Amino acid sequence: MPNISYQPLFDLIESTNLAPWLESLPERCDKALTDANNGHMPKWLAALNALPDVHPSRIELGTDAVTIGNSDDLSTAQLSELRQTLMAFHPWRKGPWDFFGIEIDTEWRSNRKWDRLKKSISPLQDRLVLDIGSGNGYYCYRMAAEGARLALGTDPYLLYVMQSFIARRYLPETHPAWVIPFGIEELPPSLPVFDTVFSMGVLYHRRSPLDHLLELREMLRPGGELVLETLVVDGAAGHALLPKGRYAKMRNTWFIPSCLTLEAWLDRCGFKEIRLADLAATTTEEQRSTEWMTFDSLDTFLDPNDPTKTIEGYPGPKRALFVATA
Ligand SMILES: C[S@@+](CC[C@H](N)C(=O)[O-])C[C@H]1O[C@@H](n2cnc3c(N)ncnc32)[C@H](O)[C@@H]1O
Repeated sequence: MPNISYQPLFDLIESTNLAPWLESLPERCDKALTDANNGHMPKWLAALNALPDVHPSRIELGTDAVTIGNSDDLSTAQLSELRQTLMAFHPWRKGPWDFFGIEIDTEWRSNRKWDRLKKSISPLQDRLVLDIGSGNGYYCYRMAAEGARLALGTDPYLLYVMQSFIARRYLPETHPAWVIPFGIEELPPSLPVFDTVFSMGVLYHRRSPLDHLLELREMLRPGGELVLETLVVDGAAGHALLPKGRYAKMRNTWFIPSCLTLEAWLDRCGFKEIRLADLAATTTEEQRSTEWMTFDSLDTFLDPNDPTKTIEGYPGPKRALFVATA
């Protein structure tokens, strides 16, 4: 498959403590892409192939929008073709991105979450980083800009994996930001080598949140850092919300703990130096429909008469960021 070879990732992994994973990883990546039977794959592959073959005059991965190229690098016709090509990857949820001056105003202004967490985590320079549920790898590119030796995202949703390859198309093969096409279940059970593991927006989708925390700890080297971001509710130690059905129209939402409960979960799972680094209500400034994500977004997930509540009557989304040591 053109443009989506993982070989440079395998080469990079070869020189790290992750090397034993190479026994299964190449086959697993290949299988996830070829067995997927996803009817959109031909369209996404064609779109990747249709990206303009030019040398971008500017690459900035450490800015709010992950930026590749300037509009001057392309002709007007190429720019209009590129806009259509990028639209083939709708819906764009995580970003923003800027490809040759075309600003992809994604559903989430993910740069805001990044700004909230960046000041609270250990520097990523030279670290092996894993981002579980990475989406299209927006954060992986930001991590790479901070000097991570490897910024490895995992996400089973192939559209996001395909989006992650757009920026890669213009970067050296050795660039350390990657998104592999499967979920946490298929990571090796014991590979305690990552220096930092991120789990953001994933815990409340796990039916067994403590097992998720234990899995995260198993991926960290002793002394490694967990960056955990998840929905929380107000309440005392021991309290957690288990929605009856959907939460803010989301299926598959399980436990939403109070901060004190989450702290106790982390403690029970063996994490140390547990810190609540940030607590922020999610606003319609940060999550909204745009021309690049035209489906419903947060404003329709909230009670129109009381936007502090979800449409189902639960407390509105509030997210905590915890940092802890394995
Ligand atoms: C709410 S989004 C969070 C995305 C990103 N981490 C962030 O904080 O903005 C959850 C992500 O987890 C992915 N996901 C779903 N099931 C997963 C699994 N079993 N393992 C890893 N990721 C999964 C989804 O495709 C989605 O991209």
